[in-house]
Amino acid sequence: MPNREHHEINRQSWNEGTKAHNSHKGDQAAFFRAGGNTLFPEETELLGAVAGQTLLHLQCNCGQDSLSIAKHLAAAVTGVDISDEAVRFARQLSADSGIPAEFLRADIYDFFLRNDERFHTVFSSYGVLCWLSDLEAWGRGIASSLLPGGRFVLVDFHPAFAMFDEAWQLRHAYMGGELYEFDAGVGDYVALTGTAAEIDDLLPGIVDFHNPYPGVEYQWGIAEVQMALLRAGLSLSHFAEYNYCNGFKPMPDMRDLGGRRYGAAAHLPRNIPLMFSLVAELRS
Ligand SMILES: C[S@@+](CC[C@H](N)C(=O)[O-])C[C@H]1O[C@@H](n2cnc3c(N)ncnc32)[C@H](O)[C@@H]1O
Repeated sequence: MPNREHHEINRQSWNEGTKAHNSHKGDQAAFFRAGGNTLFPEETELLGAVAGQTLLHLQCNCGQDSLSIAKHLAAAVTGVDISDEAVRFARQLSADSGIPAEFLRADIYDFFLRNDERFHTVFSSYGVLCWLSDLEAWGRGIASSLLPGGRFVLVDFHPAFAMFDEAWQLRHAYMGGELYEFDAGVGDYVALTGTAAEIDDLLPGIVDFHNPYPGVEYQWGIAEVQMALLRAGLSLSHFAEYNYCNGFKPMPDMRDLGGRRYGAAAHLPRNIPLMFSLVAELRS
């Protein structure tokens, strides 16, 4: 069963964290009006030709990737996110940039229960699985949101990467939906990482951000993620692991590989998995 009590805690934490993140990014509407694109090559390639098709973006946050997909891949995008602040921002950004997209504020589990639209593609990326309290219901919800033959595209940080703390010490569980409750809540990872697609130099914005709301995460292993989708009736057509991650640098000694891509610290063994991607299709 989805744990809505935990989701409510996370909603409040994301509302505050989102304000801090956007405070560093300046005029994002101008970025998009000038043809800006926040997508990385990995998801662009995996999404493929979606022009003229419908696309559901789960956990879309402030819609920067949703608007990039709408503008540069020409899909009709619907974004869903639990955070009031993120969805308010996304709607405003859509209006101010002139890129049409629909944004719904909802817990994805509630969205799945009331949604009766079927999409060509469902997409989710970068920091999404750790907020899901029920992986089986997530898989079923994705299956019920896809047209027959439709594709689910996921790019996320690797659960093995999530086991380490900032000093690369093993700190967290790998799998089993193990709970990780943290008083510090959603942090200012934009300031921590030091770059963002939307702006060359980050603005100071909110300094020394402290989130007043805690957060609750879950540790899901790769096999659990894959099996939740297979049990829901999807077939896996692509899976990849990467020894780098995009747009996220939680450890200060991660190597900057250029293009907002980061590798594990130089003193560590090679090829630690930091990110993975998968594509799963709903059998028609
Ligand atoms: C790290 S962000 C995803 C970033 C996103 N890929 C982007 O384009 O910026 C995680 C998002 O998940 C959302 N979220 C967490 N739990 C959720 C839930 N139960 N239902 C819907 N959204 C949720 C948060 O509000 C947050 O915006």
